[in-house]
Amino acid sequence: MPTRRAKISIIGAGNVGATCAHWAAAKELGDIVLLDIPDRVGVAQGKMLDLACCGPIERFDGHLVGTSDYKDIAGSDVVVITAGLPRKPGMSRDDLIETNVKIVKSVSEQVKQHAPDSIVIVVSNPLDAMVYTAWKATGFPTHRVMGQAGALDVARYRAFIAMEIGCSIEDVQALLLGGHGDDMVPLPRLTSVHGIPVTDLLSEDKVAACVERAKVGGGEIVKLMGTSAYYAPASGTIQMVEAIVKDKKRIIPSAVYCEGQFGAKGLFVGVPALLGAKGVEKVVEFKLDANEQKLFDESASHVQDLVETVKKMFPELA
Ligand code: NAI
Ligand code: 2OP
Repeated sequence: MPTRRAKISIIGAGNVGATCAHWAAAKELGDIVLLDIPDRVGVAQGKMLDLACCGPIERFDGHLVGTSDYKDIAGSDVVVITAGLPRKPGMSRDDLIETNVKIVKSVSEQVKQHAPDSIVIVVSNPLDAMVYTAWKATGFPTHRVMGQAGALDVARYRAFIAMEIGCSIEDVQALLLGGHGDDMVPLPRLTSVHGIPVTDLLSEDKVAACVERAKVGGGEIVKLMGTSAYYAPASGTIQMVEAIVKDKKRIIPSAVYCEGQFGAKGLFVGVPALLGAKGVEKVVEFKLDANEQKLFDESASHVQDLVETVKKMFPELA
């Protein structure tokens, strides 16, 4: 029996961070700390006070704190890093690299100092390169560092399939691999609707259209809103947090360290990962067909290029 509530710290009290706090509180996953820079401490405090006042209505307990003081993250079981700039219309995730490496590096150094036993989930973009940055800057073992992308990307893909068929999203199962870029790899071969292969229910063109829409799903929302999405990104992140704090052993596509699985070696990239109390407990490997492997290799190679850019810009992270 746990002797205390889990402690979840979220760095960055912007759209994604605050929405993570919202989902985590609503699911009563534990005590929550929301941290931002000193200039934005009022935002972090105000959002957490506002959220705490939902407790009596939504019926959740938990200690909710807004802060800019890293001492408050001490003892965290999980730290979620959402600090960093989001993209604006016309920008790719990769355009954020220089600014966000600096932010994620400095945040990770604080996490290392104040929450040395935590499991870190990175959300800031460009995601795969930021996971690498957090790993290098914390020095944590690879099973305690991961990135959220696949949980979101596969949810988008499933949502688009369900919209196309007109069925409940609960009945759509799917898998997706690769980096969090427009070259991510949804897998129609492993997409089913209540066990029925999706290709038996939708034409090849319609499945391909759902795949394409999922790949650029983030951009579609940026165009509409002028900033990037946050409900589904936060929901995907909290799905990972829940798997860890409840030791659920869920298999969730996540950016985790591969040591040869799917042919990726020494790289954080999106693969099915079994998440539990220890963090990444296993990469669940299976055989790809030749085309899937080609697409995964291309996506992994793009991730590798981003990591090389980080190393060039910041030799201390090499
Ligand atoms: P936002 O601008 O609403 O919030 C970012 C927050 O980070 C701001 O409150 C800012 O003050 C804070 N911040 C900046 N530097 C900081 C530092 N050194 N320490 C602590 N806090 C700091 O942005 P939003 O929409 O919340 O996005 C956050 C990041 O997440 C972006 O990089 C975005 O691209 C990324 N993202 C990733 C997704 C994914 O699936 N991996 C999906 C959606 C967004
Ligand atoms: C998204 O996919 C921008 O990464 C963010 O919505």
